[in-house]
Amino acid sequence: MANTATLEIDGQRHEFPLVKGTENEVAIDIKSLRSVTNGVTTIDPGYKNTGACESAITFLDGEKGILRYRGYSIEELAEKADFLEVAYALIFGELPTKEELDKFHTDIKSKSVIDEDLKKILESFPRSAHPMGVLSSLTSALTAFNPSSVDVSSPEAMYNAIVKLLGKLPILVAWTMRRHMGLPLEYGDSSLGYIENLLKMMFQKPNEEYVQNPILVNALDKLLILHADHEQNCSTSTVRIVGSSHAGLFASISAGISALWGPLHGGANQAVLEMLEAIKEDGGDTKKYMAKAKDKADPFRLMGFGHRVYKNFDPRAKIIKVAADEVLGDLGIDDPILDIAKGLEQEALNDSYFVDRKLYPNVDFYSGIIYRGMGIPTNMFTVMFALGRLPGWIAQWREMRLRKEPIGRPRQLYVGETQRPFKDLVNR
Ligand code: CMC
Repeated sequence: MANTATLEIDGQRHEFPLVKGTENEVAIDIKSLRSVTNGVTTIDPGYKNTGACESAITFLDGEKGILRYRGYSIEELAEKADFLEVAYALIFGELPTKEELDKFHTDIKSKSVIDEDLKKILESFPRSAHPMGVLSSLTSALTAFNPSSVDVSSPEAMYNAIVKLLGKLPILVAWTMRRHMGLPLEYGDSSLGYIENLLKMMFQKPNEEYVQNPILVNALDKLLILHADHEQNCSTSTVRIVGSSHAGLFASISAGISALWGPLHGGANQAVLEMLEAIKEDGGDTKKYMAKAKDKADPFRLMGFGHRVYKNFDPRAKIIKVAADEVLGDLGIDDPILDIAKGLEQEALNDSYFVDRKLYPNVDFYSGIIYRGMGIPTNMFTVMFALGRLPGWIAQWREMRLRKEPIGRPRQLYVGETQRPFKDLVNR
């Protein structure tokens, strides 16, 4: 293969280097484009063809349905690793040794406290507030209580900011849910594992001892691993771009949480469940909703279907589908919603509209069914996604800072008015 790509503009030829990734992906390096062409730029709404960075964290092949973190397949990680091991590997590049993992967990636990004044901020939100808005605000507010975490110029400062956030976010997640449900805000138990402690913080009743259910621990661990990173998606790019201005880690992650909230991104898991509920309420007529999804005059989309990058099965959806069956079976839950989901999936997989457009179930199609089986309220589903995505966001933010990437600042093609004279108010 040639080493350069040639671009001809007005008879002038310009050569640009081709760069190859470790998985043989090829990119045209256009860093010099504007300077050699006298200001010509590219236009690519939605960045469908734009590589914003080089990254060594996550590899995704949407055509083949491959997802790997740091070279390890998602299937193997979901089966053999736990969430903290995956978080460590994503952030620092290698799977931890036993000693490294123990130290990482101890350091996280040592930061797992929240300033009591932050509780007041949480309590001042209406109980009906959407948990994603609350979580984003509280994460941003963490900066006010931890101003020293903004300057991460030394490796120690960066490490401290990272373990602080990994320690504090599960508490904010649990408290956001408990506040919504009217339960008292409590700390868990630092002698427990990361996931066990999270479950205890979320579900502990004030008048009962919390008994761990290994099925729930395992299911949540797997779900969080499957959500832990997904290269340069909307929220991750947001985290990188906010972080590129050297705003602190907490502010960058808060922005990522807001980006994740939307129904075209992480908010899809809530939207899927609401859609399945609506279909059930409407008599379970999946064909009617398939027709709506295909009707271009109808804004309805089949939530949980389609993906910007996967044009084959989402490998995470395959794992989650099996997990949903297992978890609901183990918990003895017979959920009619699961049958509607399976029916819808079968119809879509055999429908030329979906087949031609390569629209397959994505990670969110089945995750909400498991969360619901675990007793998590529907509007908390995206918050669970955010907690799962935290290590990925941190890893991407850290990589961006360590590579000393320039501030993110895209160009545009201006299509507005050219210069015109100002008109006085009386003459308009
Ligand atoms: N239902 C019906 N039609 C769809 C759907 C859908 N879910 N998704 C895409 N299409 C159609 C779309 O109308 C378009 O048709 P046409 O070519 O005739 O105009 C074609 O498929 C391509 O769609 P697109 O919107 O150009 O594709 P995109 O890459 O910009 O969007 C997406 C990807 C995920 C936003 C979109 O598939 C969608 O809205 N899906 C539903 C929401 C959802 O499940 N989001 C979660 C994504 S996975 C979790 C995450 O990583 O955030």
